[in-house]
Amino acid sequence: EQSPSAMRRLIPEEMLERPAACPFDPAPGLARRRGQGPVQPLELHNGAVAWLVTGFDEARSVLADARFSADRVRYRDATQLQPHEVAEMAAAAERGEPVCPAPVDSRADGMFVFMDPPEHTRLRRLLTGQFTVRRMKALESRVTEIAVEHIEAMKAAGTAADLVPAYALPLPSLVICELLGVDYADRDRFQVNTSIALNANASDEDRARAGGELYGFIAQLVAAKRAAPGEDIISGLIQDAEPPLSDAQLVDVALVLLGAGHETTANMLALGAFALLQNPDQVAALRDDPAVVDNAVEELLRYLSIVQLGVSRVATEQVALGGVTVPAGATVIVATPEVNRDTRHWTDPDRLDVHRDRVPHLAFGHGVHQCLGQQLARIEMRVGFTELLRRLPDLRLAVPATEVPLRNDMLIFGVHSLPVAWSGAPGP
Ligand code: HEM
Repeated sequence: EQSPSAMRRLIPEEMLERPAACPFDPAPGLARRRGQGPVQPLELHNGAVAWLVTGFDEARSVLADARFSADRVRYRDATQLQPHEVAEMAAAAERGEPVCPAPVDSRADGMFVFMDPPEHTRLRRLLTGQFTVRRMKALESRVTEIAVEHIEAMKAAGTAADLVPAYALPLPSLVICELLGVDYADRDRFQVNTSIALNANASDEDRARAGGELYGFIAQLVAAKRAAPGEDIISGLIQDAEPPLSDAQLVDVALVLLGAGHETTANMLALGAFALLQNPDQVAALRDDPAVVDNAVEELLRYLSIVQLGVSRVATEQVALGGVTVPAGATVIVATPEVNRDTRHWTDPDRLDVHRDRVPHLAFGHGVHQCLGQQLARIEMRVGFTELLRRLPDLRLAVPATEVPLRNDMLIFGVHSLPVAWSGAPGP
């Protein structure tokens, strides 16, 4: 299995369980390791020892270093190893023998997130060519329409809602529909299947069924775009790729965009709203000067670092890093919540401060796999928070903060639901 949830199941719970006092702070299990060096061993549930990178500079150097592979299947990251293999490797290490598992054949048509250069480079370039400024500009007005429609629907329905299904999930899902050129008539079905397929709490059976339907749907979409190209990314890839991409590659690319762009943005919107509501002075700063929103988005990305332990690589050879020796074959996990609070880079990093001077953060990763959709994600957050605060000026939590169910068991951190309320008075 190559899904991030496979890694989630291997990570000790104490590394994911957030502190009750402030759920936005890194897990105490992670924070306790502060001061123990920027790269530390971490025993996973299958007995494998991964290397946890908590330092900013060390994280950047891992993500920029070709000796760390993103092809977790070929180089068999910790999620690919059975406990008996881990034990055999440990015994070999005791005997002083090399312990790197032999690479296996990995073939994924268009799953470029898990590819290394040069295979990655070709697909990534093709995709970058599709995320044009012109397309992003055009999307911005659609993002605004989608945000406004959903907020107005919430207001029309009453004075309370769960912000996750009412706003945070549909917004990125519909934006991806725009990007991929999904027909309006198919969007409800698309959204329902996406949310089931990406919901780690759904049963395996339901997820597999939804995933299968989604795959079939996207395969049909690719066929439809071949027959009648539109203004979307799939049509663009069909027209621009030389040599042409196969159907299987196009389906994979669409699934990557969906997988990478949906859950991430949804959780930034919902968790971001939660963090803002818990920091009224920061909301006031945003209301006083709406131009601060771009800064606020960067600060929320840093402060929340939702891809909590999801950025991982495999060392293809022995590498000296942050004072330790990472052995060949070892899995390296970048702990973005800690990395983005490295006191060597930020003063008072545990404080949310929308006026903070901008220092580059690693919430979108770094190096060749750095988030392809970051420009779009920024638009969604800028528009998403601006419209929410403008149209619901007295938005507030409808339950005590401690009752908000956290996704602290997931690789993408966030909230399962966010009950909010507002007064019925008309907004501006
Ligand atoms: C990669 C974060 C939104 C598409 C990544 C990576 C991170 C990340 C950390 C690097 C993963 C790695 O190196 O292993 C986020 C966050 C988002 C977000 C925090 C929301 C706030 C989006 C959106 C899209 C997108 C909206 C597209 C619609 C991608 C793709 C990759 C990626 C395709 C893989 C790039 C590659 O392998 O070359 N993202 N992302 N992301 N992201 Fe995002």
